Amino acid sequence: MARYVGAIDQGTTSTRFMVFDRDGLPVASHQLEHEQVLPRAGWVEHNPVEIWERTSAVVQTALGKAGLCAGDLSAVGITNQRETTFVWDRRTGRPVHNAIVWQDTRTDHIAAALDRDGRGDVIRHRAGLPPATYFSGGKLQWILEQVPGAREAAERGDLLFGTADTWLLWNLTGGTDGGVHLTDVTNASRTMLMDLETLDWDEELLGFFGVPRQMLPTIRESSALEPYGVTRRHGPFAGEVPITGVLGDQQAATVGQVCFAPGEAKNTYGTGNFMLLNTGTEIVRSGSGLITTPAYRFGDEPCVYALEGSIAVTGSAVQWLRDQLGIISGASQSEVLAAQVPDNGGVYFVPAFSGLFAPHWRSDARGAIVGLSRYNTNAHVARATLEAICYQSRDVMEAMTADSGVHLEVLRVDGGVTANSLCMQIQADVLGVPVSRPVVPETTALGAAYAAGLSTGYWSSTDELRQNWREDTRWEPQWSEDQRAEGYAQWHKAVQRTLDWVEV
Ligand code: G3P
Repeated sequence: MARYVGAIDQGTTSTRFMVFDRDGLPVASHQLEHEQVLPRAGWVEHNPVEIWERTSAVVQTALGKAGLCAGDLSAVGITNQRETTFVWDRRTGRPVHNAIVWQDTRTDHIAAALDRDGRGDVIRHRAGLPPATYFSGGKLQWILEQVPGAREAAERGDLLFGTADTWLLWNLTGGTDGGVHLTDVTNASRTMLMDLETLDWDEELLGFFGVPRQMLPTIRESSALEPYGVTRRHGPFAGEVPITGVLGDQQAATVGQVCFAPGEAKNTYGTGNFMLLNTGTEIVRSGSGLITTPAYRFGDEPCVYALEGSIAVTGSAVQWLRDQLGIISGASQSEVLAAQVPDNGGVYFVPAFSGLFAPHWRSDARGAIVGLSRYNTNAHVARATLEAICYQSRDVMEAMTADSGVHLEVLRVDGGVTANSLCMQIQADVLGVPVSRPVVPETTALGAAYAAGLSTGYWSSTDELRQNWREDTRWEPQWSEDQRAEGYAQWHKAVQRTLDWVEV
């Protein structure tokens, strides 16, 4: 059997290809950023052709650097930024529009209308999602309405829709020359078009957005019963490798963190934060502002579901300190600056730049820094930024406890911000729960590799994967209960200001 498993991780800001060995340790990796196209305030796009080219380049470079070829790979998995909406012409392979990114808010009017006539409640129940600009359905409707000729072409069967996994899979398996048009349950569930129970497209939901069914990919399991397809010889792998794992990046991180039992949770700290709690094969509907979503479906086993708390702005708030305020020169400096003061000095920062996602779902909220006095410095603002990451995660954890009754014993963390030790200490303090980071921090790519390798028998079972998980660092809570309660009460007051701001 081939020695390794590969994984493509197509994220919001960059694309990475990694190769893992049987112990789940990386043996090759390459990563490239792509352009964030920002045509107007609130609009965020990606160029699909650039994403495909970057994907090809990272695969070729990573394999080349490590002296590997297609024959060294048992399988390839794909994981991706979710919700971002791609539409292309099946005859030419050309996108009809730039991909509309999950952060994009141009469909505000479409999302708002859903709650005026009762469609919103149908979506909540059937798709497990609150109507919001975040998800693909409104973005796809926008493209069909705004791109001249798109609706007619879609109805003729000439246009294909997909999230980034589908776009890459289609191109890797031949594109206009027989590319397969598939997605998995985790990605399909982020469209507002899939029924959580049947795990299939739902006619009524398609009708809400005017989406012709023929442009939608077939929905498959996340770890393939039969390979979705094989990479083409003339493509970036220069050989045939079965593609056998597909899942959205946050679900992949859940798998990479081996959260296979109900009650196990992970929190990924990227541009935003995404906390997922495994709820087993039961669909738990949230009464507290969380999303109900498939965590993964392996082969023909029943789908495993999760409750998810999606937070739009966390790591990107640190970037804002760097790019807009200029008070730090790099992300790591936020830790140095925040460490200059023993506490936040009364300052709270709610970075509601794109409104607030979970648990509030208020696209009209806007950011606020409150509690300032003459005494405060840049260091307090930096500290308040790190605290904002942690308090938003606390809001999500509280909602999870309310919905599921699960009290976390430990929170597994991954993603770029987890390199910030002060932030992770604050996270443990704010939650009152230990925070644990694994040895391999690239859990997203690892999870996609696990899904792919389980399919081909490279790994035999989830028990074997559990053996690979090893703790690197653990942060224990140090604050007193009073300190924790007081800080959280102040945070709530600050959040209220961002909601009040738009009401007056
Ligand atoms: O739902 C959005 C999420 O999938 C984006 O993740 O890591 O690409 O920012 P990331």
